[in-house]
Amino acid sequence: MTHSLYHIENTSTIYSPGLVFFLDLIRQNLARTIELAGSVDRLRPHCKTHKTREIVQLELAAGIRKHKVATLAEAELLASCGVPDVFIAYPIVGPNQRRLAELIRRYPNTRFSVTVDHPHSLKTLSQTMSLENVEVDALLDLDVGQHRTGISPGPEAESLYEQMLAAPGLKAVGFHVYDGHNHQPTLAERQAAVQVLMEPVLRLRETLEAKGVAIRRLIMGGTPTFPVFARMDIPGLECSPGTLILHDHSYSSKFPDLSPFVPAALLLTRVISRPTKTRVTFDLGYKAVASDPPAGKRLVLLDVPEYEAILQNEEHLVVETPAAESFQPGDERLAIPTHICPTVAMHQQAYVVEGGKVIGTWPIVGRDRVLTI
Ligand SMILES: Cc1ncc(COP(=O)(O)O)c(C=O)c1O
Repeated sequence: MTHSLYHIENTSTIYSPGLVFFLDLIRQNLARTIELAGSVDRLRPHCKTHKTREIVQLELAAGIRKHKVATLAEAELLASCGVPDVFIAYPIVGPNQRRLAELIRRYPNTRFSVTVDHPHSLKTLSQTMSLENVEVDALLDLDVGQHRTGISPGPEAESLYEQMLAAPGLKAVGFHVYDGHNHQPTLAERQAAVQVLMEPVLRLRETLEAKGVAIRRLIMGGTPTFPVFARMDIPGLECSPGTLILHDHSYSSKFPDLSPFVPAALLLTRVISRPTKTRVTFDLGYKAVASDPPAGKRLVLLDVPEYEAILQNEEHLVVETPAAESFQPGDERLAIPTHICPTVAMHQQAYVVEGGKVIGTWPIVGRDRVLTI
């Protein structure tokens, strides 16, 4: 299978629909991420995109010691790879608090941190950590406009941070600032939006520091505003993009300034039927590609002329193309997913291609909700 970026010499070992990782491109994206951040110390990549041990190991080999996750299973995956610093960017509530304590006990060489954004979860987390006789680092989650989690930077946030400082079993270490709503098309617009959101964040930091409280860590953003945060000279700043390492069609089409990054995880699909003269059906249903983008926009098929996706079921993708008659059942194509993170989580394994050859498979370990704890 030949495409300028995505050559695979022999596809006979790839069962379709198959997730394919192009290792050379992953390495390239990783190198560019570090270059843009300025140093590995300013980076805290999010594991949610790839959820694999092998990519964590590539990041560790590149010197990245600080990592971010969304789930306790991803946290366990990272700790089991020997990552020394794991930030769980998620409010931990209910029995997951006891589970977190177990994780901390099981992996003494990893320092874990979590977010806090509410006095009640702070209280229960502090009680559980104390009861379990462990300590966890905590970052105040600041809501800077997405209104998903967090507390608005201001007097209430200041008070919550002071409660965190006093809470047994917790060590307050800084702020988490995620601006997942900043999807402005131009870099200049994203720059302006970040400037606005940073003002109250830095004011809160100054207010607390004036009281003698050091805010050592500021964990900022995802991929779209990574180029903005990466240029900022703010003490303790860490950038936490996730998607960049594999990249996808959504970000590469929306944000032209991210052009140094290339989609590195694709789907291999085969024609299974040609029901009419103008229709081709592929084995690429929405159980193999994330369906959060609207139907018809969940992927881009490479090398299918002038096609329109007209139907997608669980295991079928039907397209109309004037070139339908040139397709035979069994023909192979590659597709770039629109949203890579949930797409990866739908696959048990990724086929890994290096130098045009399939060199093996990597299990998507972190797709499971529970590993061992
Ligand atoms: C809290 C948090 N940080 C970082 C990221 C990474 O963002 P991106 O996918 O834009 O790289 C996400 C993505 O959902 C997130 O929720």
